[in-house]
Amino acid sequence: MEQPPHVLIFPLPMQGPLNATLKLAELLCLSGLHITFLLTDHIHARLLRHSNILTRIQSYPSFRIRTIPDGLPENHPRGGDSYLELFESLRTKTPPLFKQLLQSGTPISCVIADGVLGFTFDVANEIGIPIFDVRTLSPACLWIFFSLPNLIHSRELPFEGGDLDVMVKGVSGMERYLRRRDLPSFCRSGDLDNPSIRFYQTETIHNPRACGLILNTFEELDAPILSEMRSICPNIYTIGPLHAHLKAKLAAASSPLPAFSNSLWEEDRSCLTWLDSQPLKSVLYVSFGSLAIVNKDQLMEFWHGLVNSGQRFLWVMRPDSAVGESRIPVELSQGTKERGYIVGWAPQEEVLAHPAVGGFLTHSGWNSMLESIHEGVPMICWPYFVDQQINSRLVEEEWKLGFDMKDICDRSVIEERIRNVMEKRKDELSKSVDHMANLAKRSLSEGGSSYSHLERLIQDIKTRVD
Ligand code: UDX
Repeated sequence: MEQPPHVLIFPLPMQGPLNATLKLAELLCLSGLHITFLLTDHIHARLLRHSNILTRIQSYPSFRIRTIPDGLPENHPRGGDSYLELFESLRTKTPPLFKQLLQSGTPISCVIADGVLGFTFDVANEIGIPIFDVRTLSPACLWIFFSLPNLIHSRELPFEGGDLDVMVKGVSGMERYLRRRDLPSFCRSGDLDNPSIRFYQTETIHNPRACGLILNTFEELDAPILSEMRSICPNIYTIGPLHAHLKAKLAAASSPLPAFSNSLWEEDRSCLTWLDSQPLKSVLYVSFGSLAIVNKDQLMEFWHGLVNSGQRFLWVMRPDSAVGESRIPVELSQGTKERGYIVGWAPQEEVLAHPAVGGFLTHSGWNSMLESIHEGVPMICWPYFVDQQINSRLVEEEWKLGFDMKDICDRSVIEERIRNVMEKRKDELSKSVDHMANLAKRSLSEGGSSYSHLERLIQDIKTRVD
């Protein structure tokens, strides 16, 4: 009997990309493809410690995990701004191992790799295996990366200091709302030799070598940007929001698969019980994702802003999210025991889907935003880096799904924004968030845009390997 295509998926070894690509892997598995999911040893060990991924994966006979080293010492932080060191280590140390892997064991018929891992395109092309590019950051940011050469050519980059509200014209389709401050934060360095600028300038070179570009978004959300992107990258599959897409497919299949966590930190599920006892849409959920780091002053501004707003809150304080001695003093947290709950890591998808949650103070990471959009939860955005700067701009300016608090960390502003989202402008926001949530859901139902793009992706993988 003919074997189904065997797809190797190689994601960026970070929480956000991992969440999205694991869901993609399951979706492909559900449609009968065989999957090998490639993790770094570091991520694999953390998943084993904190998640139930292995139990889940064992329910698929055609899903297996393989691992390779990332080349960094075990005590490397791999968080905050050190992500380029991780990419560089992967680029220089993993290609021979990756090649070996593709050429050993059950033959691989197709690769899906994050475009940041450019060497995977060299290796796959060299040995003649079709490769698809998957990106888990926002399409808007990817489009800015694609446009970096334009920005340099038009001398809009570099800039240093000065007026961050100057409008940027060199990213087509974004002329109306893009300011310097909305560009990825590394653009502010004033130096074209900045390692991030140098790194991301090469973003488009893999396009001609890839069979297509897979994005975690839905057409209705990103239509203008996608239309620009298709001018240089015609074969795009928009199949998000991936977390909800998987849920929809499992529900349609009445799948008995166990609930699933792919967290790199221990989830504290007690917050769900706490949420159960809170009134409808009364809780502000606060989380800055898996990489952002706040300093002591920022932490205190958020704390006072939150407390002064008088709202209930659920706050994720990752064990490694604050610099040095930055913790909320016990005497302060005691005062809000009744209306505040703090955890080290939350089951975020479930939290955002909980009826007690009425707002989200977020760093605007792309997964967090899609999760919030799908559940119709309005956002206050405090971006930290990379795609988060443009994501937060879109939230306020284009999509009207909340407020952008970029470059501001002041208790009175925080308090005012929280009151706006939770009380004063709640009704006005709820119209747009409900509308977008409905569009997201519709895109996943039979005949919807993301549903159809996934069908097409599966078909194209099958045709490529025939
Ligand atoms: C950052 C980004 O900004 C992202 O856009 C980029 O693609 C990778 O780098 P991150 O900080 O991980 O990513 O943010 P995000 O993309 O929002 O991913 C965080 C994930 O962790 C989300 O899926 C969220 O549900 C999950 N999470 C977060 C939890 O499960 N529990 C938590 O307590 C916090």
